Amino acid sequence: MFNKITPDDIHAIKHITGETAVLSDDEAMYAYGRDETEDLVFIPELVVLPETVEQVSALLRYCQDRLIPVTPRGAGTGLSGGALPVYGGVLLSMRRFNKIINLDLDNLQATVEPGVITQELIDAAAEQGLCYPVDPSSKGSCFIGGNVAHGSGGPRVVKYGTIREYVLNLEIVLPNGDVIWTGANTLKYASGYNLTQLMIGSEGTLAVITKIVVKLVPLPAHQVVLLASFGSNELACAAVSAVFRAGIIPSALEFMERRGMDWVREYSEVRLDLTDEQQAFLLIELDGDSIELLYQDCEKLNTVLEASGCKDVLLADTAAQKDELWRIRRTMPESVKANSIYKEEDTVVPRAALPQLINGIKQIGASYGFDSVCYGHAGDGNLHVNIIKSGMSDEDWEHKLPAGIAEIFRLTISLGGTLSGEHGIGWVQKEFMNLKYGKMHVQLMQGIKQVFDPNGILNPGKIFDPPGGELTMQT
Ligand code: LAC
Ligand code: ZN
Repeated sequence: MFNKITPDDIHAIKHITGETAVLSDDEAMYAYGRDETEDLVFIPELVVLPETVEQVSALLRYCQDRLIPVTPRGAGTGLSGGALPVYGGVLLSMRRFNKIINLDLDNLQATVEPGVITQELIDAAAEQGLCYPVDPSSKGSCFIGGNVAHGSGGPRVVKYGTIREYVLNLEIVLPNGDVIWTGANTLKYASGYNLTQLMIGSEGTLAVITKIVVKLVPLPAHQVVLLASFGSNELACAAVSAVFRAGIIPSALEFMERRGMDWVREYSEVRLDLTDEQQAFLLIELDGDSIELLYQDCEKLNTVLEASGCKDVLLADTAAQKDELWRIRRTMPESVKANSIYKEEDTVVPRAALPQLINGIKQIGASYGFDSVCYGHAGDGNLHVNIIKSGMSDEDWEHKLPAGIAEIFRLTISLGGTLSGEHGIGWVQKEFMNLKYGKMHVQLMQGIKQVFDPNGILNPGKIFDPPGGELTMQT
């Protein structure tokens, strides 16, 4: 049971953070009441933008004592409703924690605050000849803190791994106000339970992240980007595991459906002529330091693609062409959003199961009466399924579709996969958690939550319900 924020609370919170860090006007409430998840809106009672760890600590201690829910928020680019303040309370924006504190060139590490835009870290590292390879599609606007909270991925995971591979240590504030580091700034860690990894993907339910130490790697000197087209989704998806079987590890291997491509072309005026035969696409990037070796890999890749039924390969020659191919892929989510009311489901399977996954999704769509546009990180077996409302009635969208979505997840699980590869569970996927995970699994998660956050104030209602069901608000 939570308390509503009173005028006395607002007064006390302003005392902690200063007047200007507290917003309660309608415009702010609406802006901070939504993220990129569908058209969901949950208006917070108060928006707070602290600037220091001490302020976060005092704020959390106050809210814990007063039983006020706190929803931590990065840039609000999430797709599972993780940053939505579903119980009202304080919306804690980490926007002002926006500094790159240190680039340690001797140890190839960076220490950053959680409100740093991911692209800014990528650029700062690149200026030193280094690479921070975690680059979700929203890298130009998302915050690295949100990336940590969701265990983010993106296109380059297939070669470089997710953010889990890069975070070495975190400074966090617990709901009781204690500030701790979760590990050490070392490449190895064998000192008991790994709290750093526990925090990654915890979606703001355990503690608030205030500093992040990541490892960096050398920046590869060359990249080759190509677009391979196929006559069907199944052929394109089947080619994916053939690429790896041939001993090639691309730095990205993305799948896109024809419809997604058409919508991008309409939405962002991309110049790309396509024939009717080109129904599905793989965007493939190879990187490395030797251009000769890269071209050898390209030849090998061409042979594999041809044997897999590829219709046509477009090789980007110039930096501008490479950017254009990437722009197509990166603008696909917003193009879909601009075109139709939609719901986005994040599925992941072992990559060889992709052809069965995509065919199964289309069959489920046909029997439940929905259309879908799929794209995603095929090299990781990670497919984003955008369910399009188009002709579906409001009634079916509301009441029939959830059963269809459950069917998609059942299929994903039966193929050895799981609910979300990188978007998180948040608010919108939690109803499907029980399809994959048993009671004991969820109880273990609830137990961990209880240890970190005994009063349950941090991002309540996300990933799972509290033991005993949904929470209520005191009026
Ligand atoms: C992408 C986001 C939606 O891959 O995850 O574009
Ligand atoms: Zn993605």
